[in-house]
Amino acid sequence: MSPNDLTPRPVKDSQSEMAEAVLPNDANPLGNLLGGRLMHHIDIAGAIAAHRHSRSYVVTASTDHLDFLAPVHVGDLLILRSSVNRAFRTSMEVGVKCWVESYLTGERRHVSSAYLTYVAVDQQGNRVPVPPVIPETADEKRRFEDAGRRRELRRAELERRKQTRRE
Ligand SMILES: CC(C)(COP(=O)(O)OP(=O)(O)OC[C@H]1O[C@@H](n2cnc3c(N)ncnc32)[C@H](O)[C@@H]1OP(=O)(O)O)[C@@H](O)C(=O)NCCC(=O)NCCS
Repeated sequence: MSPNDLTPRPVKDSQSEMAEAVLPNDANPLGNLLGGRLMHHIDIAGAIAAHRHSRSYVVTASTDHLDFLAPVHVGDLLILRSSVNRAFRTSMEVGVKCWVESYLTGERRHVSSAYLTYVAVDQQGNRVPVPPVIPETADEKRRFEDAGRRRELRRAELERRKQTRRE
């Protein structure tokens, strides 16, 4: 696919999985992964899905609300899964889900989830259109619909903040 091919693409084309070993340098004195480090991994995992969908450069426009549901410890294996939920004109909503996986049993524990919006840009930083997403499974269709609702909420909130700054 060339960068300006706007043929709709299935969600599975952007699906990505990343694994990170949690090292002492990433942790607080209690041995828990720093929240900012987790956010960094989430941003990278999200960007990979956005690149795969759009086959272009991307910038992070925003991150929605982020909960840290359970601590991640030094020695844990962090797994991050990402895919594009929906594409709009130049922007894409990406969902990222994070687990820790036990090396010994393979058991996974959900530690965080986030929705991020990336905007596709060319080498000069100008925004470029992205192909639509084709949701295929029931989960993908639900995420696609929900992404449309979240976009409206984000736009309303962005407008409210702009208005507040003008006052
Ligand atoms: C994100 C950015 C490209 C948006 O530019 P802008 O001039 O505000 O553009 P517009 O208002 O015309 O919006 C362009 C698209 O971005 C989306 N967008 C803009 N701000 C957004 C936000 N805060 N959250 C979600 N989407 C956003 C718009 O909905 C629009 O999407 P669409 O083309 O699919 O309809 C620009 O603000 C930017 O370059 N920010 C810095 C990005 C960056 O450096 N990220 C790394 C941070 S360290």
